[in-house]
Amino acid sequence: MQRISLILEDKPINHSLSLTDTNALPGEDKSVLQIWGRASLKGHVKISGAKNSALAIMAGALLCPEDCRLHNVPSLVDIMRMGQILSALGVKLENNGEILDINARHLGQSQAPYELVSQLRASFFVIGPLLARLGVARVPLPGGCAIGARPVDLHVRGLQAMGAEVHIDHGIVHAYVSGNNRKLKGAKIYLDYPSVGATETLMMAATLAEGETTIENAAQEPEVADLANFCIAMGAKIRGAGTNTIIVSGVPNLHSVEYSIIPDRIETGTFLVAGAITHSEITLSSVVPDHLTAVIAKLREIGAKVIAEEPNCLRIVPGRLRATDIETLPYPGFPTDMQAPFMALLTKSEGDSVITETVFENRLSHVAELNRMGADIRVKGNHAIVRGVPLLSGAPVVATDLRASAALVLAALAAEGKTTIQRLHHLDRGYDNLEGKLRQLGVRLQRVQEEAEEEETSVPESKVTAPSP
Ligand code: EPU
Repeated sequence: MQRISLILEDKPINHSLSLTDTNALPGEDKSVLQIWGRASLKGHVKISGAKNSALAIMAGALLCPEDCRLHNVPSLVDIMRMGQILSALGVKLENNGEILDINARHLGQSQAPYELVSQLRASFFVIGPLLARLGVARVPLPGGCAIGARPVDLHVRGLQAMGAEVHIDHGIVHAYVSGNNRKLKGAKIYLDYPSVGATETLMMAATLAEGETTIENAAQEPEVADLANFCIAMGAKIRGAGTNTIIVSGVPNLHSVEYSIIPDRIETGTFLVAGAITHSEITLSSVVPDHLTAVIAKLREIGAKVIAEEPNCLRIVPGRLRATDIETLPYPGFPTDMQAPFMALLTKSEGDSVITETVFENRLSHVAELNRMGADIRVKGNHAIVRGVPLLSGAPVVATDLRASAALVLAALAAEGKTTIQRLHHLDRGYDNLEGKLRQLGVRLQRVQEEAEEEETSVPESKVTAPSP
C-alpha cells in the first residue's frame, strides 16, 4: 500500500494573526508524534521564556494604560489563548517573534469570555488586575482540569479581604468594589496554602489598591518574583516577592515598560532529564541555575552530573542512574511540574524509587502510559513506587496533560523502537518548538496525521538534522 505523506513540519507555532482572533483556536488535533528511541543526543538547546511567567505578566499588563513591550515570550498555544482573552477585553496586542506588545489603554470589557477561560486556567488571574483597574470584573470559574479540581477560593477570599464584593452566579465570579472611587483597600492576607495563582492575583490587585497589602504564606516561585519585577518596572511598590511575605504599597497608576521574561525552568529541567535518560551530554542556555536547585540536587542523587559552565549555561553529563525518592512541594521544594518527567527517568534507574505528589490530587495519570512502555510503577494514593527496569519499549501512548506528555516524550527517547504519542495539544500548550529542539539534538521524530499512523511509517533519513556543534 502506498504511504501517504502527511508529515507535519515542527515549525514554531505562529501566533502573529491568532492572538487577536478568537475564532482561531486550534481545533481537535488529529496528529500524533512518532519518536524512534535509543537516541544519543548531542548539542545545545536554547531555552525559551517561561510559560507561567509570561501568562501572569500578560495578565499584569492589564494594570497599565500605556505600552508594555515583553521580550522572550515563548511561542505556545497557552500564550495565544491568553492573548485572545486580553483581546476580547479590548486590549491591543501585536507580536513579532519573541516580542509581544500589549496596550490596555481601552479596557472595554470587564467580562472574560467563558469559552476561552475554560481552556486556560491561568486566565482566571485577570480578575485581580481587572478589579484593580475598573473596580469590577466578571470571570468564569475555570473549572477543574486533568490534574485536579483546582479551586479558586484563595483568590476570592483575598479579594474579599481587600474590600471586593464577590458572588458566584451561573458559574461566573462577579467581583466589584463599591464606593466612590471603586478602589480596593490594602489588607493583611494569610494564604492557607502558598498558591502561585492566588499570590499573583492578589499581588496584582494590590498594586493599585489604597494603602498597604501584606500577603503571608505567599508562593515563592520564580514566576511570582518575575511578575513582581515586571510590576515594579511599571512603578509598583512591591517588597519581598520570592519570599513567603510580600508587601505591596498601592500606587495611583502604573506606566509604560519594556521587560524580558525569565527562562523556563521546567523546560530546562525537561531537557536535563532528556540528557540523563539517554546517557547524553548536552548544554542548555540561557538558564537560571538557582531556579533549579531542587531539580539539580535530585539529578545528582540519581547519578547524573550537572555542571554550571557559565552563570547562565548548564551541561548535563550522564552517569549510572540509581533510584531516589521525590516529594513535590511548593518552591523551593521539588516542582510538581517536574514530577512526571522525573518519573520517566526513574523508570530507567536501578532500584526502587518512591514519588509522592502533594501539590495536585490527580497528577499521576502518566503512570498507566509509562507502564505500557514496559515501566514497573505501582500507585498507592498519592505515591508512585517506581521499580527501575533495564529496558523500555516503544508503544502507542496517550498524553493526558502537559507534563505527562513531556514524560512520554522522555521515555520514548530512551525506549527501544518507535513510540507514538496521541493528544499532542497538551504538548503544544507548554513546550516551545520541542520537536525542532529535539531534532537539532539528533532525535529521529515526526508528526503525522493519525490516519497515516495506521500504516507502518519510518522517518526518512533526510529529515534527521545533524546535531549542532
Ligand atoms: N488551590 C486551592 N485554592 C486556590 C488555589 C489553589 O485549593 O484558590 C490548590 C490547587 O488546587 C492545588 C494547589 O493549591 O492543589 C496549588 O495550586 P496553585 O494555585 O499553586 O497552582 P496554579 O497557580 O493553579 C501554577 C502553574 C502550574 C503549576 C502550579 C504549582 C501557572 C499558569 N500554572 O498553577 O503549572 O503546576 O502553579 O507550581 O502558573 C504547568 O505548567 O504544567 C502547570 C500546571
